[in-house]
Amino acid sequence: MTFRGAGDAPLALPVIENPGEGPEEIAVLHQEIRELARRRNAVVLAHNYQRPEVQDTADFVGDSLGLSRQAARTEAEVIIFAGVHFMAETAAILSPEKRVLLPDLRAGCSLAATITAEDVRRWKAEFPGYIAVGYVNTTAEVKAELDYCCTSGNVLEVIDAIPEDSGILFLPDFFLGAHVRRMRPHRRVEVWMGECHVHKGIRSETLNEARERYPDAEVLVHPECGCAGQLIYEMGRGDIDPEGLHILSTEGMVRAVTERPVSRFIVATETGIMHRMQQMAPEKQFIAADPEAVCAFMKTITLTGVRDSLALDRHHITVPPDIARRARLAIERMVALGR
Ligand code: 13P
Ligand code: SF4
Repeated sequence: MTFRGAGDAPLALPVIENPGEGPEEIAVLHQEIRELARRRNAVVLAHNYQRPEVQDTADFVGDSLGLSRQAARTEAEVIIFAGVHFMAETAAILSPEKRVLLPDLRAGCSLAATITAEDVRRWKAEFPGYIAVGYVNTTAEVKAELDYCCTSGNVLEVIDAIPEDSGILFLPDFFLGAHVRRMRPHRRVEVWMGECHVHKGIRSETLNEARERYPDAEVLVHPECGCAGQLIYEMGRGDIDPEGLHILSTEGMVRAVTERPVSRFIVATETGIMHRMQQMAPEKQFIAADPEAVCAFMKTITLTGVRDSLALDRHHITVPPDIARRARLAIERMVALGR
């Protein structure tokens, strides 16, 4: 499978490989990584969808928003980004004096690949005066065209910070945009038709089967999911009880598993997050709404890759200063908003 990448270059979906590291090799790699990170004054940041053993070696695991904040405030000289390309770019934009390394350049994002800076310029020209709000899953060039950046964790806060009478161009995720429209029906919001191939595939039918099988479970849904729109619609019509159904960012989901007083959760997002959930609440049970929901881009990062990235100083992610300056304004507006 390929997606349209930056500048229309195709973005190939990597094949998920099993790195075949046994427990002993994992322990050795963890030690090597910690030693190299200490010597290089490096911090390892990992997204919630990373492989379990990569999460376990990180200094900080979190969602896009948390990782952006961490990258902005760290005192380390080197940031190893165990995540995807747009996340490493965001770190490079926020910390231009730091050396940001992405262990594998195949770590793209099908959602970020749905829109280019030229697309945004054309769209803005069609809707003069509209405020452009873009999800963090975008390239640096796209962010440079935005007024505000947002993540799934703070999208409604960002929308609420924009004057009521302003129209909004929301990009690139269609399902997250539909979520915004439903939650803020009085706002004028135009939505880009982009989607993440992983979340789009998590459908209402699959989720409903799991809900029937585990009626006592609470349901955690990422707003990028194909099923999210249907759920909100059904809740709005009063067809389903909103109690026990939560539409949240990845970090919001991790928090919910410790805060909600139930012992079982159905999880509708990329399955890598369940490792972190299991660590946070070992006594609870987590059921993937769709066990096939695996992001091959995220899984390109392996422990060996993280170790080599530190040892060989690769792959250095940089953003041209003019693009970075303009993109930073949009990201800083987001980072400045409280949760
Ligand atoms: P979060 O912002 O919730 O971490 O999600 C990022 C992402 O890539 C979702 O697919
Ligand atoms: Fe991009 Fe989807 Fe992977 Fe998230 S899960 S990084 S949105 S392709």
